[in-house]
Amino acid sequence: MIYLNNAATSARKPPCVVEAVARALTSGAGSSARGAAAADLDAARTVFEARCALAELFAFSHPERVVFFANATQALNTAIFGTVRPGDHVVATAYEHNSVLRPLALLERTRGARVSYVPVARSGAIALEDFDRLITPGTRLVAVSHASNLTGAVLPVAEVARMAHARGALVLVDAAQTAGALPVELDALGADLAAFTGHKALMGPQGTGGLAVAPQVEVEPLFCGGTGVQSARDRQPDTYPEHLEAGTANTPGLAGLAAGVRFVQEQGVEGIRAREEALRARFVSGVSAVPGVRVYGEGDGMGHVATVALNVGDADSARVADALAQRWGIATRAGLHCAPRAHEALGTRGQGAVRFSLGFYTTADEVDAAVRAVAAVARELA
Ligand code: ALA
Repeated sequence: MIYLNNAATSARKPPCVVEAVARALTSGAGSSARGAAAADLDAARTVFEARCALAELFAFSHPERVVFFANATQALNTAIFGTVRPGDHVVATAYEHNSVLRPLALLERTRGARVSYVPVARSGAIALEDFDRLITPGTRLVAVSHASNLTGAVLPVAEVARMAHARGALVLVDAAQTAGALPVELDALGADLAAFTGHKALMGPQGTGGLAVAPQVEVEPLFCGGTGVQSARDRQPDTYPEHLEAGTANTPGLAGLAAGVRFVQEQGVEGIRAREEALRARFVSGVSAVPGVRVYGEGDGMGHVATVALNVGDADSARVADALAQRWGIATRAGLHCAPRAHEALGTRGQGAVRFSLGFYTTADEVDAAVRAVAAVARELA
């Protein structure tokens, strides 16, 4: 199989990640913050090492404010429900994933929140003037993806953050598609809150993700429960990470995530980025030459992570993805990618699109094979 669905998850993991998970499961590690015996302290060290690895990657000097959840979705929900108050105004972009769109829609229905969406043009472009127009002194939160999970477009987060901060708004960055694939430095981005997932470019296991919360940012907990500290109180501790983390930590998963982050750091994010950019360019140039293939977002004027969305004529995207998988052994993702507003903007809400997302283990030979397969499918469906 040629796996080109890395925007969904990196299916292949480095051996060090597999070993770290196995070690955590077999070494007798106990439960972090749920005992003071050697086994529990081992687990606590493992979880803390994961916080430190992420904090280092994000050039963030507060590892205790890297809070873990099961995925980026829980992190984004925590950030949104924990900061938006009744009647607040929120700005988000049409590129956002349902893990942002759906909590915001719920807040509109239940808390009278008002949400403005920064439009995406048919070309995939997004205009800073629209952020400037929509972010007002009354805006509480600006939620912006670091990169689109559909076209891979990298959004101008730092510029948006400057506008937001000048008007007193908090900035929530969804780094699900970029952590491990692009430098994600919280200060450079201007992120007050940054959500990440562990199982994509960070190469960790599924069931890991989290939220980095800048100092001075107030977030009400979404999950309440045991923290192992201040057990006599009827509310979550004010200290981090306990303020936002409730329940037993996923120690084996976080051991794997820490190993994944260390692996990415050893390889070097800049080097990973350069290699994936070259592979993406090779793929785009190949498929763009295939008659009947339409690649989305190439004229958007933005940089891209290694994700490409395309269609073959008017063929249903699921039919194309199915042919690629069944006949050519190529794994892609079709449909709407949990990003309905982005598809609406690109004019693909009915047809969907076939998304090819390259990753750390993708090779040039695989990219060339994928181009040949797209050409063959295009000929068949023409
Ligand atoms: N959000 C992930 C994707 O785009 C799962 O496929």
